[in-house]
Amino acid sequence: MRNNAIHAVTGAFGYSGRYIATRLLTEGCSVITLTNSPARTNPFGGQVKALPLAFDQPDQLAAALAGVEVLYNTYWVRFNHATFTHEQAVKNTLVLFAAARRAGVRKIVHVSITNPSEDSPLEYFAGKAKLERALQESGMNHAILRPTVLFGREDILINNIA
Ligand SMILES: NC(=O)c1ccc[n+]([C@@H]2O[C@H](COP(=O)([O-])OP(=O)(O)OC[C@H]3O[C@@H](n4cnc5c(N)ncnc54)[C@H](OP(=O)(O)O)[C@@H]3O)[C@@H](O)[C@H]2O)c1
Repeated sequence: MRNNAIHAVTGAFGYSGRYIATRLLTEGCSVITLTNSPARTNPFGGQVKALPLAFDQPDQLAAALAGVEVLYNTYWVRFNHATFTHEQAVKNTLVLFAAARRAGVRKIVHVSITNPSEDSPLEYFAGKAKLERALQESGMNHAILRPTVLFGREDILINNIA
C-alpha cells in the first residue's frame, strides 16, 4: 500500500467506514469518502473530502474515483425500507463497481457477509452473493471480506440485544 496514494472509503461518516478511514489516516494515507450523507458532521475535518455516492450520475461517480488506488466498499442497506431495498442496493453497487473500473481504481476491498448465497430466501444474503459474483467476474483486482458481525460502541445489533 503506497501511503501517498488516494484511498476511497464509502460511508466514512458511518460505522465501519469511519474506522477504516481512521486506520488509513493513521497509516498516513490520503483518504476521500463517497457518502449518501454529505451534510453529516465530518469527524475528520478537512482530512477527508466528502463526495456524493451519485449512483444516478455514473460519470460523476467515475470522476470522483479518478486517481484512487483502493476503494473500500461498505455501502449497503441493513433492512428493506418502503422506498429503499436490497435490490436497489445491489443495482447501486454494480454502478459503483463499473465507475471504479472506468476510473482505473486498482483494487476494490468489498465488505460482504458471512455465508452469502444467491439461493438464500433472505435478500440481504442473496444480494451480497450477487455482488461477490459480479466482482469476481469483473476481472478487477479485489478482496472480499465476509464478517459475521462487527461489534463496537456504535454497533446497533449487539448493543440492542445487550
Ligand atoms: N455491522 C455489522 O455487524 C456487519 C456484519 C457483517 C457485514 N457487515 C457489512 O459491512 C458493511 C458496513 O456495515 P456498517 O454496519 O458499517 O454499515 P453502515 O455504516 O450503517 O452503512 C454503510 C454504508 O451504507 C450506506 N447506507 C446504509 N443505510 C443506507 C440507506 N438506508 N440508504 C442509503 N445508504 C445507506 C451508508 O451511507 P452514508 O454514506 O450515508 O453513511 C454507508 O455508506 C455492510 O456492507 C454490511 O453488510 C456489517
